[in-house]
Amino acid sequence: MKIFLDTADLGEIRRAAEANLIDGVTTNPTLVSKVAGARDPKDLYREICEVVGGPVSAEVIGTDKETMITEGRKLARLHDHIVVKLPITEDGLKACRALGSEGIRTNLTLCFSVSQALLVAKAGATYVSPFVGRIDDISGDGMGLILQIRQVYDNYGYDTEILAASLRHPVHVVESMLQGADVATMPPKVLWQLTKHPLTDNGLAAFLKDWEKLGTTL
Ligand code: E4P
Repeated sequence: MKIFLDTADLGEIRRAAEANLIDGVTTNPTLVSKVAGARDPKDLYREICEVVGGPVSAEVIGTDKETMITEGRKLARLHDHIVVKLPITEDGLKACRALGSEGIRTNLTLCFSVSQALLVAKAGATYVSPFVGRIDDISGDGMGLILQIRQVYDNYGYDTEILAASLRHPVHVVESMLQGADVATMPPKVLWQLTKHPLTDNGLAAFLKDWEKLGTTL
């Protein structure tokens, strides 16, 4: 399973990329608004693409098909790594088909149902992003959605990749793997939580304490 970092924070992206732990990055307008400040978001996208050796999702702002296509082309021209993120609406699906026919990769976002995921695959999207955490927030079954989309895509041989999004904790990541998601995108905090286990910390402390008895270094 591929790991994407869900952030526009260059410091966090550099930290994870240096450890060779991420295959790509996802952003959204909220994440960009948190870090861009006065700078042009297009420069930020370019810089993220230079740091990450894989796909970087950048979202359109327009809501009608023509504007989405124009913005999508502009974003795609910024860097080879750019994947154009589009909302799942009638216009978004049309823009997805049009951009795909030009060889531009797409990530259809804000997916909350299997029926939406079916249309996303039929529109030829590269990725579909089901928002697991936001479904759980309203007492739904976010992971159940990942499993159902997996079944539908496998039943009919769709090659759109399932990008599990809105992941809030390590169990979401593990469950995404078990349900067959192709990619899990997660905030930096969740990525680093994946490294943690109290038995690792305790075991390491005990090893180091015992080594001290030797009174020597390596
Ligand atoms: C995915 O592409 C989105 O940017 C993200 O996962 C949304 O997560 P949130 O529900 O925590 O805002």
